[in-house]
Amino acid sequence: MSVKVVVGAQWGDEGKGKVTDLLAEQADVVVRYQGGNNAGHTVVVGGDEYKLHLIPSGILHPDTLCIMADGTVIDPEGLASELEGLLARGISCDNLRVSGNAHVIMPYHRLLDELQETARGAGSIGTTRCGIGPVYTDKTARKPLPVRMWDLLDKDALRERVEGQLAQKNIILQALYDAEPLELEAVVEQVWQHAETISDHICDTRALLYEKLEAGADIVLEGAQGTFLDLDYGTYPFVTSSHPIAGGACLGTGIGPTMIDAVVIVTKAYSTRVGAGPFPTELDSEIGDLIRDRGQEYGTTTGRPRRCGWLDGVALRASARINGATVIALMLLDVLDIFETINICTAYEIGGKNYSMMPANVELLSEAKPVFEEMPGWGCDLGATTDYDDLPQVTRDYISLIEEVAGTPVGLISVGPSRAQTIRRAEI
Ligand code: IMP
Repeated sequence: MSVKVVVGAQWGDEGKGKVTDLLAEQADVVVRYQGGNNAGHTVVVGGDEYKLHLIPSGILHPDTLCIMADGTVIDPEGLASELEGLLARGISCDNLRVSGNAHVIMPYHRLLDELQETARGAGSIGTTRCGIGPVYTDKTARKPLPVRMWDLLDKDALRERVEGQLAQKNIILQALYDAEPLELEAVVEQVWQHAETISDHICDTRALLYEKLEAGADIVLEGAQGTFLDLDYGTYPFVTSSHPIAGGACLGTGIGPTMIDAVVIVTKAYSTRVGAGPFPTELDSEIGDLIRDRGQEYGTTTGRPRRCGWLDGVALRASARINGATVIALMLLDVLDIFETINICTAYEIGGKNYSMMPANVELLSEAKPVFEEMPGWGCDLGATTDYDDLPQVTRDYISLIEEVAGTPVGLISVGPSRAQTIRRAEI
């Protein structure tokens, strides 16, 4: 039995989908523990590209049980269309289980996310407008009782919850945003039309997970987004409304901390961020544009161009600590193939002082200037390398510096999108 957590070490989009897909080969169960369809995973299998937002990438392995646990939030329309899309491509989703306790992203959550972001104007967070903030807000508010996945099994229960919610939401929509109120039956139908596609997958995933743990299963807990988008440990308020960090895996699944054997933090060989908020190593330059082009750095969910920069070693060190990382998966190393020199940020300079630790105060972080260590580039195509020892010495030096800065070994290196373009140094 083993329980491994896969966490984004940066601001999301690090390539967790590929890592989970590789780990799923040996795993019995893959579990998504937080977030919703604000996430986006691209996995390439045998030349076929799969873009997943909600369903764990383990679904591409027919024998792997895939669970969307209590901590996730689910848009029925998004889930139904992802299920239908996978089925149309011959991928069976019989092994998908969705927690009845997961909260449902309702049409009014998407609408409110849109209206709130628009109203924030220049001060917007840059959310995906999928309704994530509003649904988690309702979850923590507790009453009126929000809609959870169990309610998709009983239309009367669904109507009752929606009625309670609309009594408040319609006041907000009209008074704050001058928007039209929503009609009860229309909202109920909008959601209920997907209930049939989804209902067979809804169950008590907590009980199912305990059963699997007792049976000695190998379990992968997959986070969405990344460490610095965590509601508490990210660059607040430019964060998501859930807990992508490894601790969030415990909250979202009900698996206790001492049952976790390994924490894999996933980082790109450089940095990206979508949406607003501090990003110390951002390159507003030709180099940033080159990284974006080579890394295809456009949002899977929103299509937005991602902000790009050199690897932030200070942030990676913080991430290793917050997550209790046991190993690093280093992704998209091949994107750096063409650069003559490569930089890695090893400290911040803030107000004339050097910081080797990431400051918790976001105001300070927004003023951080990166202190870079420059290294020679390798200037060759790494895409076909499968053995660590075949990497150029300068590439291995870059990897060693990452390990030193993060205080954590690099166990897996990705040099291209396909499963085969992976260098494994250790069992992760
Ligand atoms: P929300 O999760 O839609 O509320 O967005 C909050 C912040 O998280 C915004 O900056 C989004 O761009 C960012 N975000 C949410 N999901 C992802 C993701 O999967 N990858 C990268 N950024 C994300």
